[in-house]
Amino acid sequence: MLLLANAEAWPGFPLAIDMLKAGAASLDAMVAGIGRVEAEPKVRSVGYGGWPNMLGVMECDGAVMDGNTRAVGSVGAVPDTLHVTALAHEVMKRLPHVVLTGDGARRFATEIGFPLTDMLLEDSKRVWWERLEKEFSAGELEKFPNIPLAPLSTAITDPERVRDTTVFLSADAERGIHAATSTSGWAWKYPGRLGDSPIPGAGFYADSRYGAAACTHTGEMTMRCATARSIVLAMKLGRPLGDAIKLAVDELAELTEGFLGGVVIHAVDAHGNYKVVNFRCQGEIRYWLWEESMSGPELRAASDA
Ligand code: GLY
Repeated sequence: MLLLANAEAWPGFPLAIDMLKAGAASLDAMVAGIGRVEAEPKVRSVGYGGWPNMLGVMECDGAVMDGNTRAVGSVGAVPDTLHVTALAHEVMKRLPHVVLTGDGARRFATEIGFPLTDMLLEDSKRVWWERLEKEFSAGELEKFPNIPLAPLSTAITDPERVRDTTVFLSADAERGIHAATSTSGWAWKYPGRLGDSPIPGAGFYADSRYGAAACTHTGEMTMRCATARSIVLAMKLGRPLGDAIKLAVDELAELTEGFLGGVVIHAVDAHGNYKVVNFRCQGEIRYWLWEESMSGPELRAASDA
């Protein structure tokens, strides 16, 4: 049994391990673990701790994928909702659909008893507004939000700090290989923007026969390359884990236009191998790993692409 997650997973990684040890279904364990990450204000890219969109509204994305059945549940740009990964899990279990977004996702949340949650922390609101004050003239601020927002979406970008997320991957000989994600997305994003975390094949993919992959950071690139699916497909076609990741990294490196930044790839295969690779993100990237043979979770360094 193996559990792998990015560094932001710290508030919920131990709970997911405990649940796996107690025999819980892998997705239940990861969704519960991510629930703790979403509730932790110190994690500044997921749930409560995340940053709002340009209008000062928190819009969160989350997803789950069952690698045994390739069933997916996903929600994107959901307002007023803390536990978006749990909501995505309910989409998978209760609806014939794969992805719900925005007001529709919130409506479904209300129907099944998810509370309306004020997601914007006072501190996030202050930082959000201070940033707008730097970018807009006094006249524009007076008219805000009835002004064009598009120019701002290129002005406000910080790919290394505001486009993270949390991703969990689990692999178990009997229970299979599964993936779960959650994020508040790109800070000061244009309203309605989806990142890769709710997009199957881009920010996550799992197939218990071959492996799984999940990405953090610049979703604008992994969506264009279908990075997570490419890795799992390469493994299906017989490439070893490292080669499969290299193929995906080469595809990211081929992009020369559009918004470019760093990407971190997390991947596992069906033979118990795992790898976390940093493609052009600044600073040291770390990840959590736990295997049944370990006494506890370990924080390890990703390798450079
Ligand atoms: N990878 C997270 C995002 O692009 O929103």
